[in-house]
Amino acid sequence: MNEPCPAAPSAVHSTVTETPVITTTGLTKVYRSRGREVTALDGVDLHVREGEVYGVVGQSGAGKSTLIRCVNLLERPTSGTVSVAGQDLTALAGRGPGAGSALRKARTGIGMVFQHFNLLSSRTVRDNVELPLEILGVSGKERTRKALELLDLVGLSDKAKAHPAQLSGGQKQRVGIARALAGDPKVLLSDEATSALDPETTRSILQLLRDLNRQLGLTVLLITHEMDVVKTICDSAALMRGGRIVESGTVADLLATPGSELARQLFPVGGELPGIDRTVVDVTFHGEAATQPVISQLARTYNIDISILGAAMDTVGGRQVGRMRIELPGPFEENVVPIGFLREQGLQVEVADGAEEAAHRGTGDAVLTKEGAK
Ligand SMILES: Nc1ncnc2c1ncn2[C@@H]1O[C@H](COP(=O)(O)OP(=O)(O)O)[C@@H](O)[C@H]1O
Ligand SMILES: [Mg+2]
Repeated sequence: MNEPCPAAPSAVHSTVTETPVITTTGLTKVYRSRGREVTALDGVDLHVREGEVYGVVGQSGAGKSTLIRCVNLLERPTSGTVSVAGQDLTALAGRGPGAGSALRKARTGIGMVFQHFNLLSSRTVRDNVELPLEILGVSGKERTRKALELLDLVGLSDKAKAHPAQLSGGQKQRVGIARALAGDPKVLLSDEATSALDPETTRSILQLLRDLNRQLGLTVLLITHEMDVVKTICDSAALMRGGRIVESGTVADLLATPGSELARQLFPVGGELPGIDRTVVDVTFHGEAATQPVISQLARTYNIDISILGAAMDTVGGRQVGRMRIELPGPFEENVVPIGFLREQGLQVEVADGAEEAAHRGTGDAVLTKEGAK
């Protein structure tokens, strides 16, 4: 299904500011059912800046959905705080009688998009988008005007009178996004919004989210288990495991962090791991830095044979990034100087298999020497 991409090409650049829009501190959620306890969130500190697209990744069961449901307080955290657009939602929720309405009001500033769209099948597309406006008590005429404007924004002006069953998956998700924008939210939360869609439709929905982010200055917090989603549209990302955030930062910073698991997942190099008596080195370079001359210079200067085991160029977070896995003859100790040379050229260099760390510890246990290998 070829879906038109309605929003204008992203001529507008994202304007991420340092103002925090979503902040959680020590967020913890323990589910108790039939005498069993599951700690779904275990002290999560999340910081999402205004205007950014922030991706949370992690395997099934990591706590991603619980986190996003706690951010809009659909789920009550066991402890910790959530603040969105300067408002402490956890404090609002705890304020006894009347808390419900205060919280509902605050929630209008938070749009939510779901994996399975959650549209009402008996209502037309337009009426689905009008639903949150009805709840807000907006008059009929104004509701319709707003709904049509939003349908136009997501490229569905011609489907206003259709019913959800007549739409493709991608179109249903566009309705879901239009409905999420009805209350003019500052923040859009998305839980696996593209997981039920084919790759091409996924791309068009991601593009739409990116365009809305730029056109409306909308901050987007999205949950996904697909690294490609992060690669395509995220400014920042966090990796969750066992209810905790184990890594987080801007995509650019993560890529420049030696040993980052997210960087490795975002940008796998491929290629074999070190054989005996060999040193395998992963070289990362950004933008214009050209590796090719550096590698041949290295070979000439030190008179060594370098094998390229794998290489890839890609665009991550809007930047060109290259990675190359090369193999140098001899164990790590014999390659300290050539590796230093690469680092001097401004390349980011990681020695595979922990050989460098082992050498620093002085144990050398991950390094097989010539004698040891025989
Ligand atoms: N309503 C619930 N009751 C009990 N346990 C739950 C509930 N929701 C989620 N969990 C548990 O919390 C953990 C995190 O779940 P979830 O947030 O859905 O993870 P993810 O979205 O990363 O797959 C899992 O172990 C899950 O089984
Ligand atoms: Mg989930």
